Amino acid sequence: MKDCNRVWINVNLATFDPSLPDAYGIHTMCALGILDGRIACIQPMSSVTATSLPFDVIDGHNGWLTPGLIDCHTHLVFAGNRANEFEQRQQGKSYQEIARQGGGILSTVRATRVRSKEQLIKSSLPRLQALVSEGVTTIEIKSGYGLNLPDEIKMLEVARELGKRVPVRVKTTLLAAHALPPEFAGRPNDYIDLVCKEIIPAVAEQGLADAVDVFSETIGFDLEQSERVFRAALAHNLPIKGHTEQLSLTRSSSLAASLGALSCDHLEYLDEAGAINMAESGTVAVLLPGAFYYLRGNKKPPIELLRRFKVPMAVASDVNPGSSPMASIRLMMNMSCILFQLSAAEAVAGATREAAKALGMIEDIGTIEVGKIADLCLWDTMHPNELPYELGQSPLLQRIIGGEIVYE
Ligand code: NIG
Ligand code: FE
Repeated sequence: MKDCNRVWINVNLATFDPSLPDAYGIHTMCALGILDGRIACIQPMSSVTATSLPFDVIDGHNGWLTPGLIDCHTHLVFAGNRANEFEQRQQGKSYQEIARQGGGILSTVRATRVRSKEQLIKSSLPRLQALVSEGVTTIEIKSGYGLNLPDEIKMLEVARELGKRVPVRVKTTLLAAHALPPEFAGRPNDYIDLVCKEIIPAVAEQGLADAVDVFSETIGFDLEQSERVFRAALAHNLPIKGHTEQLSLTRSSSLAASLGALSCDHLEYLDEAGAINMAESGTVAVLLPGAFYYLRGNKKPPIELLRRFKVPMAVASDVNPGSSPMASIRLMMNMSCILFQLSAAEAVAGATREAAKALGMIEDIGTIEVGKIADLCLWDTMHPNELPYELGQSPLLQRIIGGEIVYE
């Protein structure tokens, strides 16, 4: 401990270390030491003496440390809002009908294309701050409201810039195959050509994306088109993930899994064969209860199947203006329990360890283990099961990134 840069004493740990027997991976009454931004040692308080501690000691007063929260699926960067469509949906129109009539994703595309980077940063910052204030230390941000090369690049640059202005790790995902832009109406294959031959190569060349995503759906892109995008991404060494089987059974999850996708997200219509294929490829199931709730879904993702085949389940906000206008990861943890019957431990693991897997970052973050980066949250709770339980007030005491306490 003496060699550590900093030590937290009197803390309980929910490590989510999978080698520990209980679901939370609990160690009570510990000291946790940091060296060079990584977790260097974990010791019971009973073995800690005043002389064994370095100069920088923080008393956790019996609070709980968890891994920093990770929101692994967001559309955080966009302009405008879709409150008018919210009203139309209250009058009985469906999300799909609104999309087919040129609203939905395309209305946000119109708003986003005409905004400058600085304007997009300004409209996206409050959403990021809301997530961060709840304990998010890593966030994934997708493009997908540009749908042409300059505007997709603009969105990815905004996402990267947000990670410089706010202390949070940002992972970016290219989602050029989110919807068919109006200038390609009736020519989806030509647009997919553009995505595969121009957008993916340029974005890869500029190092602007950490992964590539596709909206594989009846109102998105079909299996063949999705496969072309996935293969183009892989050819440029970019990992893939998919919006799959949100609104219908398309087998897109099996397609993505067969190509080694990091995650398949939504999954309301996933069937047993799809779950088996995901298990075999180690693909994470990202549950998005906000979109299910907001679209008044009547088919839940097959949680029992996912459990049976041991598919890791992450939980994310999907924050976006159309299907999940809710910048709250704690609300999503709660909804995953209430709407999808996850246990509290599964919900917290879903926004930490399993979310890290969905981003390909499990070697570095997502659990509290010696050697991992010290991205942590300190909570004023009696137990970590309070995180998905109570909403509205925040028990967050400290948000810690790379061993440094950051408040913003
Ligand atoms: O994850 N399904 C497609 N994409 C988003 C919705 C985006 C929007 O409606 O603007 C989703 O639900
Ligand atoms: Fe999404």
